[in-house]
Amino acid sequence: MKAIVVGTGYVGLPHGAICAEYGHKVYAYDINQERIDAYKSGRRDEIEKQINEPGLVPIIQEQLNRNLFFTTDITDEIEGTDVIFMCLNTPPKRGGATDLTYYLNASHHIAKLLAARTDKRRVVVVNKSTVPIGTARKLESILLEHGAENVGVASNPEFLAQGKAIEGSRSPDRVVVGADTTADLQILRGIYSAYVNHVRIRYIETTPETAEAIKYLGNTLLLTYISFWNGVGGRLAESFGNIRMEDLKLGVTADSRISTWGSFVSNGAGGSCFGKDIQSLIYQLKQAGNRADLLESVYEINEYQKSYMFDRAGYEAGFNFNNKTVTMLGLAFKKRTNDMRDSASLKAVEALLAKGVKEIRAYDPLAMHEATRYFDPEQNHLFERIVYCDSVTDALTGSDACYVSTDWEEFRSLSKELRATVQTPYLIMDGRRMLPDYNQLVEDGFDYLPVGGKLLRKAADNTLSLNGAVVESDPAVA
Ligand code: UDX
Repeated sequence: MKAIVVGTGYVGLPHGAICAEYGHKVYAYDINQERIDAYKSGRRDEIEKQINEPGLVPIIQEQLNRNLFFTTDITDEIEGTDVIFMCLNTPPKRGGATDLTYYLNASHHIAKLLAARTDKRRVVVVNKSTVPIGTARKLESILLEHGAENVGVASNPEFLAQGKAIEGSRSPDRVVVGADTTADLQILRGIYSAYVNHVRIRYIETTPETAEAIKYLGNTLLLTYISFWNGVGGRLAESFGNIRMEDLKLGVTADSRISTWGSFVSNGAGGSCFGKDIQSLIYQLKQAGNRADLLESVYEINEYQKSYMFDRAGYEAGFNFNNKTVTMLGLAFKKRTNDMRDSASLKAVEALLAKGVKEIRAYDPLAMHEATRYFDPEQNHLFERIVYCDSVTDALTGSDACYVSTDWEEFRSLSKELRATVQTPYLIMDGRRMLPDYNQLVEDGFDYLPVGGKLLRKAADNTLSLNGAVVESDPAVA
């Protein structure tokens, strides 16, 4: 089939590549010339500067100019197209509403092109990016307003987690398609023929509004679950002595009805979806005259989590940040990505600067370039206090404390670098429970403050507290 993908970001590019891999002719369209040039070049470094997603580059290289074409002009491509996937940025506005500017601009553009086409075959315009409930209906009225004929609208939300977009696209849990007519559902069955009647993949056909709601409910439920562990489980272990977080988690999630995913206590969940979607759903419910108190609490718990460790460092460890040098390990919102949208590190950096630190020595295996965009000294002169480092050792050099913000695997062996680079007294703030041998570190004189556990410090009489952090697997794998 012939498909156009409008918007080639984190949603559109992997989706277009996978559709091409499944044998459809895909025209990936973007108004950003630099992006399109990067994809057209077929070069790994150029593509990954735009979107860094494991497994994506080989598909683009294999499909480029065979099933996959990149363009900044789809005037000709609109003829003969079966499906148009809308994969545009839908950022949050202040107050939680969704900013549909890019989406609406593109919708009008597509509507005009569809109205002008000579070929009048049925075409379905599909919302793939997360848009408020009722947006497919709005799209329908835009198409009609411009006089587009024989067009349908559909909602087909994207559920992919970053870093797993390709794996997740090849083998999704479910495909949700909301459309009004059998003809439109049939066209989408053609696109997704590999998933229809699959033994494991749930192929769900419903109304556009239900499909839109499934996406919001799914994402906010996941964030609610993470926030339960952060805001209740973690808090319990931080309040009472001798509670071992990992055993607590094991004991609870051994119940087959309770998920392991989401039970990894952390410094808050970031990323492009969770924060934005929960704020949007709160807004949508309130606009509809309803209450959203559970979601409001979840949002607050998650935001609080992103910087509360620094307050704990003050009142539990007696650490004064003023004029200190603090190492920041990890900037991306999770491992294996350079994406910093809504990352806990953004709040953490702000909180540290507000506490008067002299210097933040930052290191992330992938997000260093990205970080310079977020911490622009022209926007806030305090960002001049950030020093970008090449390695963990470089970042630790000369620091008084360190904060683990992202769950990168390489931080698991942090103890080695700590012992070789810094001197005690030294405070380790572990926002991800990454250090397996924390007991030895405490024995060596380090102060260890983890999420989901009390401060560990060697007592004057040389005894160790039994509270603790033990680390096994990691959030993304789970
Ligand atoms: C998420 C959803 O998983 C996906 O279905 C949706 O389409 C988009 O939003 P993503 O943003 O890529 O995907 O990240 P995800 O892997 O879900 O992690 C989100 C955040 O939660 C990360 O900061 C992660 O580190 C954190 N997390 C995850 C925890 O703090 N604890 C956990 O147990 C799991």
